[in-house]
Amino acid sequence: MSDFPRGPVRLPTERTSAFDPPAEFAELREKCPVARMDFPDGHQGWLITSYPEVRSLLADPEFSARQELHHHAPYDHPFGKEPIRPAEPGFFIGMDAPEHSRYRRLVAGQFTKRRIALLTPRIEEIAQSCLDAMEQDGAREADLVAQYAQPIPALVICELLGVPLADADRFKGAIQRFFHLGSDAEESRNAYLAILEYVSELVARKRADPGDDLISGLIARDELDDQELAAVSLLLLVAGYETTANMIGLGAFTLLTHPDQLALLREDDTLGDNAVEELLRYLPLFRSGGMRAATRDTDVLGRQVKAGECVVLSLAAANRDPARFGPDADRFDLRRTATGHVAFGHGPHQCLGSQLARLEMRIAYTALLRRFPGLRLAVAPDEVPLRDDMVIHGAHRLPVAW
Ligand code: HEM
Repeated sequence: MSDFPRGPVRLPTERTSAFDPPAEFAELREKCPVARMDFPDGHQGWLITSYPEVRSLLADPEFSARQELHHHAPYDHPFGKEPIRPAEPGFFIGMDAPEHSRYRRLVAGQFTKRRIALLTPRIEEIAQSCLDAMEQDGAREADLVAQYAQPIPALVICELLGVPLADADRFKGAIQRFFHLGSDAEESRNAYLAILEYVSELVARKRADPGDDLISGLIARDELDDQELAAVSLLLLVAGYETTANMIGLGAFTLLTHPDQLALLREDDTLGDNAVEELLRYLPLFRSGGMRAATRDTDVLGRQVKAGECVVLSLAAANRDPARFGPDADRFDLRRTATGHVAFGHGPHQCLGSQLARLEMRIAYTALLRRFPGLRLAVAPDEVPLRDDMVIHGAHRLPVAW
């Protein structure tokens, strides 16, 4: 029997590279996949790093997603410095069935694969217009994050929700502050309230003057009050923007630093969908992962998880589990079959926007590589500033040239 680890662990957060999860995850997954974990506020919970357990607990209704139950922050961050209240009505990511299912059902129809595929021509247009702007006045260099990876999901989610483009800067700044690890509890709360105030005004405007968008559609169904409508809109705005923007940016960085893989993709366009799945599997986007609270005593791989204890389900560690993805799971290989990864979670809370995110990524890479056959990093890889100060990982800037 291994004596590793010698006591409860802290959540590993130090990365040794832009693309890899903290190195400690590999040893934990191999020797102690269900590990006792100390939370910064003194709570003792669990850190789960193996693929089968992460996946099965994400789908286990006895492990609650109610945010007031799993309120112990797994690492020092602004949300952890004040008690977390129950989710506002409509903010369904922090709820369990039946409330969760009721809200989710109301919007799920807008996010099916078929529905999302209809957005293809518009997303292609958006990508092309960003590329045109990058090339304006004969420019040969750009910041791929500010000029491409961020505007594509921002424009897409704005159009979907019916948010006027002129308002985008208002919520983008607030979302940045909300996810910034340096924000204190008050700044973080104020950022949240600023987004909430914005979406509440938006709902009022849509009620008075409906358009052809998701919020107006929800208003027409007449099943949610204004507070619920605002919370649903806020969730979609926050969940749909930063995640996808960082995936597009970090994914482009990955391709540009793995020339053999980039060459494969350039040679064979049909590898595009595979490349997207592999990037989703390979890149650790979230600092912690899924958070749940046990609602009854449960045996997980022989460890006794007690009711009330928090579990951190590391999506990044699960996505690199050799038992699921093979002995070379730490290698970025876009010919691999990466399906089954948990980058979008699993179970009832599995990402509602997964088809949209996939489509945005696919279009973004295809359009980018076609436009710039000679695309390259404009700085050394270790000069790319990483988002070590943010909840969602990625690059702050990605200087490229062509
Ligand atoms: C690459 C981009 C994205 C990644 C990696 C991602 C990842 C995730 C993950 C891991 C969850 C599950 C959280 C949990 O179980 O606690 C989730 C939930 C969610 N995501 Fe995404 N997401 C992405 C893009 C999007 C987009 C584009 C949207 C839509 C506009 C979106 C909307 C949501 C919503 C509404 C939930 C909550 C679902 C529920 O609780 O039922 N996401 N996402």
